Amino acid sequence: MATIEEIIYQMRQMKEEEFAILSYLEKYFTRFRITPIKTIQNTFEIPKKSLDKYITEIVKKKLVSIKKVPYDGLILKPLGLDILSIKDLVDRNIIDSFGNRIGVGKESDVYEALDPHGSKVSIKIYRIGKSSFKDVIKKRRYLQERNKNTWMVRNIKSAKREYEIMKKLSNANVSVPKPLAISNHILVMEYLDGEIVANSRRVKKPEIIFEETIDVIKDAYGLGVVNSDLSSFNVFVTKYGKVFVIDWPQWTSSTSQNANEKLKSDVINLYEYFNRRFSINRDINQIINYIQN
Ligand SMILES: Nc1ncnc2c1ncn2[C@@H]1O[C@H](COP(=O)(O)OP(=O)(O)O)[C@@H](O)[C@H]1O
Ligand SMILES: [Mg+2]
Repeated sequence: MATIEEIIYQMRQMKEEEFAILSYLEKYFTRFRITPIKTIQNTFEIPKKSLDKYITEIVKKKLVSIKKVPYDGLILKPLGLDILSIKDLVDRNIIDSFGNRIGVGKESDVYEALDPHGSKVSIKIYRIGKSSFKDVIKKRRYLQERNKNTWMVRNIKSAKREYEIMKKLSNANVSVPKPLAISNHILVMEYLDGEIVANSRRVKKPEIIFEETIDVIKDAYGLGVVNSDLSSFNVFVTKYGKVFVIDWPQWTSSTSQNANEKLKSDVINLYEYFNRRFSINRDINQIINYIQN
């Protein structure tokens, strides 16, 4: 996987024409795995020799790979999609510069960045890898689509799913990071200054943190949303002590068949952690009743 430095470095080296070819592949890559070089040629109307030169460049930079069978064509690679998405966010004046990596999750890398006004934002880059995705498709045969870009498409879908639900929750003042923009598999959101409970060595007032988390879950439930991946890794406490629940791509609707089980397992997960670490004692059923009513 490319580091952000690598991505920025590559971006600076690129010519307009190289971006244009990548954008063309981006437009079609959810439908076709291999874009025929012939159609690229017809679209761009530049001499074959120059086109070949640009293609050689982007192959060398590992942004695309080239195929000979079943026809001459190009495949967009993950680094190519990273670059297109970051360029898109820069062009739309969403971000201006990149900072450090501030989080590594199960499915993503999170960085801090600055917007054009110099305010901090967070950038979540979905990175469910090819190899871990292979395990998933082995188990779930219905995902064995012909399109080998499926795992990249899946990252895009997850980002979109999270962006949309965060918008809904955030608009209703549920305590989740405010989403700001999305480009393919990259989600830009409000920057939170603090840490997740799992990483926090000293949690101040754990009872209150627990209660506030349950309130976030209740608020979301009131809007028909069950997080479905709640754990101490997804409860974020800012340096001012405000609780946010992060990480929502796997949310389920409260009216779906197994919503009750998901809600229960969310509550049990959270409770068992707080019980073990901070000796908090509560009645699970009472909490669930509280959330649902
Ligand atoms: N809005 C944010 N502000 C600051 N840090 C964040 C933000 N969102 C996520 N993080 C950090 O990034 C990590 C991974 O984010 P998360 O949404 O949980 O992704 P994953 O699905 O990969 O677990 C979190 O544990 C947290 O440390
Ligand atoms: Mg997480």
